[in-house]
Amino acid sequence: MLKAVIFDLDGVIVSTDIYHYEAWKALTDRKGLEFNFEINDRLRGISRAESLQIILDVNQKTIGQREFNRIAGAKNRRYRRLLGKLKPEDMLPGVKDLIADLRQSGIKTAVGSSSRNTPKILKRLKLTKAFDAVVDGNAGLKSKPDPAIFLACAVALGEAPESCLVIEDAEAGIAAAKAAGMTALGVGKTPLSSADRMLASLLGENAAKLAAIHDAAKRTAKG
Ligand code: G6P
Ligand code: MG
Repeated sequence: MLKAVIFDLDGVIVSTDIYHYEAWKALTDRKGLEFNFEINDRLRGISRAESLQIILDVNQKTIGQREFNRIAGAKNRRYRRLLGKLKPEDMLPGVKDLIADLRQSGIKTAVGSSSRNTPKILKRLKLTKAFDAVVDGNAGLKSKPDPAIFLACAVALGEAPESCLVIEDAEAGIAAAKAAGMTALGVGKTPLSSADRMLASLLGENAAKLAAIHDAAKRTAKG
């Protein structure tokens, strides 16, 4: 039975893709590194340091640790300035109503994100108190596809992983959910091959529908 829903943040609650893109683009342009939307898409769900490593690998470039930290820090300062534009209306379609319906139905909620900017984003969206638990990149856990963040959410919620459904927009996040023993709902335009179910958006979703998705995924796993 579904007891808890764990939301990824970037790409599920709010789309920050373009802000990540703009911030990385400014830095990579300055350094003469190639960066485009296709590379940006590959950074979904991946931590900041791992993202920079992917960008360097694509460019076949090696740099020292100090330079690495300097670029990652500058990217984040620029990204945080852009996050200042976020408003509650930027929440993705259906998210607000879904959170409210889950609460009303007695299903616990959490945010499980690799982002160290989670507190700032939740504050901008006025969602700081909307969830029963938040585990993010500041927890010092391994980032997705490792299941650590989602398992920590289950512990914080006091629920067994098999009673949790994760909502994710990235392949790394779906892999993390499955590795945690949770059911995984993919959202967005990018097809996620390991998701138990894929939806274009969360518009019109509610607690009953998510419980049905969770149960169906469990039956398939057993069958
Ligand atoms: C999310 C995003 C990634 C981002 C990561 C770290 O998972 O999908 O694109 O790299 O968070 O974000 P941060 O805000 O800590 O730089
Ligand atoms: Mg995401």
